[in-house]
Amino acid sequence: AIDISDLRDQSGYVTLDRGFKNTGSTKSAITYLDGENGILHYRGYPIEQLAEKSNFLEVAYLLIYGELPTQPQLDSFAREISIHTLVNEDMRKIFDGFPYNGHPMGILSALVCSLTAFYPESQDPNKYEETLDATIIRLLAKMPTIAAWAYKNSQGHPLNYPKNNLDYCSNFLYMMFALPVEEYQIDPVIVDALNKLLILHADHEQNCSTSTVRLVGSSRASLYSSVSAGINALWGPLHGGANQEVIEMLEAIKKDGGDTTKFINKAKDKNDNFRLMGFGHRVYKNFDPRAKIIKKAADQVLQQLGINDPVLEIAKKLEEAALSDQYFVERRLYPNVDFYSGIIYRALGIPTNMFTVMFALGRLPGWIAQWKEMRDQKEPIGRPRQIYTGYTERNYVGINERK
Ligand code: ACO
Repeated sequence: AIDISDLRDQSGYVTLDRGFKNTGSTKSAITYLDGENGILHYRGYPIEQLAEKSNFLEVAYLLIYGELPTQPQLDSFAREISIHTLVNEDMRKIFDGFPYNGHPMGILSALVCSLTAFYPESQDPNKYEETLDATIIRLLAKMPTIAAWAYKNSQGHPLNYPKNNLDYCSNFLYMMFALPVEEYQIDPVIVDALNKLLILHADHEQNCSTSTVRLVGSSRASLYSSVSAGINALWGPLHGGANQEVIEMLEAIKKDGGDTTKFINKAKDKNDNFRLMGFGHRVYKNFDPRAKIIKKAADQVLQQLGINDPVLEIAKKLEEAALSDQYFVERRLYPNVDFYSGIIYRALGIPTNMFTVMFALGRLPGWIAQWKEMRDQKEPIGRPRQIYTGYTERNYVGINERK
């Protein structure tokens, strides 16, 4: 890698790299990713080990503070988070203003941004250091509550207040699924699967939403508003929104009789905008290590829960067909993290339009860690250059003289 940051304007040249395909925006010590060999490490720890042995809060601590916590550090982190899970009662009223069928990603991003109004000190760049730890805790604590309430609102169900004697994932499941009319039993298989999914989504270096979070924060905007922007970036179907699209695509294949060839051909057709959702990645060119773990987990979870989802078989058939097709082989397109995750979310009872919200809950520690690193490294405001292709100068024409 060549560091050209010191050349500044001296050369008179501007590098053009649409989509930043080959341009680094920062130096980072958070996530190590080797796309050729399908390697992903958080702070040096292989994702496979973390998914197997750790839990989401421990990984969040690792990403944000750089080291695995000791037991007292983890206990205190978890305690602080559980103390802050409630959201201000005035925020409840905001839910009433949304239509019941409003997309939960829109609601999540709006409510996360509204936290700036409830905690205005977070907006003061001079108080960044003294308020940061509280902001981090509040975000980790309140985002699951907001997410679960967005879902409850869409169902017309009463909102569940957090139960702080529950662990992070169980509390979220309780807020999502408990109903006043029956006892809600927390299933350890579901808690385990949720921890694994959140860990696998927790960071992925300078992807679109993370770059957005860093870019917004580089103007000294607050962490809340930066994360809210990240949620919006994640929502797009080429990024986190793909997990919802994958299930919709698999359902469409099922409805169509299960023939994957038609969809593969459609994805190959350059006159058709359709893409095989959950396939391809900017950086992984041989396989996505997260997809490998999730595929295995999908089999296990469905078996443990005694669920037979025909969509899993269609997904496997589609993967097999694509991986033996020259178009996908030549372009090195493999299943990515979003390809099998939706099948597990479904098995956990999470509805399709909440899939990208689940991704956002998982990615939150990564966004926080990256934002904090950007500020700690005192990075300058992000401000890409351009190559201008329009008119250079024209004289103003009065409205009556225009043709
Ligand atoms: N289906 C069909 N063709 C594809 C697909 C796909 N899923 N993905 C890429 N291609 C083709 C492109 O048409 C292009 O073909 P060409 O060389 O003939 O023009 C070639 O493969 C390269 O694709 P690009 O779009 O240039 O690759 P880029 O790195 O810009 O995009 C992306 C990566 C956005 C992930 C892309 O593969 C895609 O759209 N995938 C589907 C959406 C998806 O699953 N997104 C989730 C990504 S993971 C994440 O964000 C968590």
